[in-house]
Amino acid sequence: MKRKAIYPGTFDPFTNGHLDVLERALNIFDHVDVVLAENSQKQTLFSLDERLEMVGEVVREFPNVNVEVLHEGLLADYARQAGAKAIVRGVRQVKDFEYEFQMSLLNRHLNSEVTTVFLMPNVKYTYIASSIIREVSMLGGDVSKFVHPFVLDRLNQKRAEREGQS
Ligand code: PNS
Repeated sequence: MKRKAIYPGTFDPFTNGHLDVLERALNIFDHVDVVLAENSQKQTLFSLDERLEMVGEVVREFPNVNVEVLHEGLLADYARQAGAKAIVRGVRQVKDFEYEFQMSLLNRHLNSEVTTVFLMPNVKYTYIASSIIREVSMLGGDVSKFVHPFVLDRLNQKRAEREGQS
């Protein structure tokens, strides 16, 4: 029986920190679904289609990774339907823990079959987050060390679009 995990997130955009966590998950699980949450609660820089395209490009080299979308609805239900027993989440710092702890226990309450697995990325990514990558990049800073070249290209395009509008 294949061990399958889901790796959910907003991924706005997918960073090298996310990739690092995904690669660690692939050392443990046979198959990982990267699950992009549409997340109507959150204002995202990139549309769902743009995020999908970027993640798809970054994970193209991995035969045992699928990219899926959680439109609306609960992750716990998604995990059940997908036959996944594990939810992978990356944790960088202690401050991540409170929210992750809450989500993990709630998800277990909603689906007793599912266990959240926390993975720490390489220390060089502990201080990056999608939010800071968006901010630095939209202000013209160099984020090339922190994202895949395809994502960098899309960030640059987005900045150019925004500059054209102002
Ligand atoms: O990358 P993020 O924004 O930290 O990811 C948060 C995400 C998408 C994992 C979380 O918001 C989520 O699971 N959303 C789906 C809806 C849901 O199940 N919410 C209850 C979580 S206990």
